Amino acid sequence: MKINFDYVKEYHTISSLEKEKLDHIQAQLENKESMLDWLDMDTSISSLELEEIQELASRIRPLCDIFLVVGIGGSYLGSKSVIESLSPYFSKEKPEIIFVGHQLSGSYLSELLEYIQGKSVYVNVISKSGGTLEPIISFQSIYQYMKETYSNYQERVIVTTGESPSYLKEIAMKDQLKTFLIPSQIGGRYSVFTVAGLLPIAISGIDIGQLIEGARAERNCFPESSQYAITRKHLEDDGKVVEAFTIYEEKLSSIASWHQQLFAETQGKNQKGILPIVNPNTTNLHSLGQYLQEGRKITFETVLKVENTKDFSLDHKLITMNQLNHLVLNQVAGAHHHGGTPSIIITLEELSAFEIGKLLYFLEVSAAIGGYLLEVNPFDQPGVEIYKQRVKDELENYVAEAKRKN
Ligand code: PA5
Repeated sequence: MKINFDYVKEYHTISSLEKEKLDHIQAQLENKESMLDWLDMDTSISSLELEEIQELASRIRPLCDIFLVVGIGGSYLGSKSVIESLSPYFSKEKPEIIFVGHQLSGSYLSELLEYIQGKSVYVNVISKSGGTLEPIISFQSIYQYMKETYSNYQERVIVTTGESPSYLKEIAMKDQLKTFLIPSQIGGRYSVFTVAGLLPIAISGIDIGQLIEGARAERNCFPESSQYAITRKHLEDDGKVVEAFTIYEEKLSSIASWHQQLFAETQGKNQKGILPIVNPNTTNLHSLGQYLQEGRKITFETVLKVENTKDFSLDHKLITMNQLNHLVLNQVAGAHHHGGTPSIIITLEELSAFEIGKLLYFLEVSAAIGGYLLEVNPFDQPGVEIYKQRVKDELENYVAEAKRKN
């Protein structure tokens, strides 16, 4: 993995005051203050859990047509981004991994329950709090289906949750479901290298050992991660408050969504932080590209480039599809820079578990450093809690009213 700051040279220099601040942040990270267990792979996932996950995956994979992952936010985006970026675009291979519980669409749930009929289904419900509305609502109906359909449903439903008592924990204990625990000192958006992310990834057949090795290889990424964090901070200070995370390979779009969640929830607080948006190219060159070139000068890009991917040779043999894709990437970066939207370019050598592991770990460290630089708590999400409370209150009123009417 390489990071190119050529287009953001004027935002790149670290002052001596900032250097001091970064030294302090580095010490905070090294001292493993609270919510930092994700920094170390050994506190993210134990070797025993790793073995258990691998054993479970090799047992389930041959028996399973559909593996449902029920979760939202950090409880599904990590595994979704790794699975999609490392899987073929079109595949008939089993198991098919389907994500559910990440929204409240009634038609999605009813169509899903129809789609899974007659297929061999396994379920992994993931919620650290064990009580989040969207996954719990979906899980209740899916669990009902599993109980009605399979006499061995307890072997087919796996719960991944936090250590505290919760609605989900209670069901898991009552029905003796296989349960994995997410470490208490790791928040949802930093949980891709824990049981929360790794079990669905292993079920999909991806080598989780290599993914973790990639993260381990970045253990000393503080200099590059802080360079990325400080450059983003300088861009924000200069009014560039919208960051387009730009991809040129469609299967990376969930990584862009994962980046969006990681940075928005980590840094968007106290009226500070950059608004991260997902920007798939070359698709969006025909939509957002106009704004990035000539709109308000409030934007910059983080561009994710992949050096070597499966290529397609065009008939005339003058240029391949990937060469063309890279040519466009380079010209767009130059044009947007000229138009006032500079970019930071992250290049992955290839799409492998090792390279993706490196990228995700690097971005996690950068997001946390960026949060500390903004003097916000990188590991809470008080804004999310506000809407959750309002929904809870209104739902209670609604249910009470419905009961009165019945
Ligand atoms: O990063 C976070 O902490 C959040 O995005 C959570 O992952 C999300 O709200 C889901 O929470 P839970 O796993 O408790 O259902």
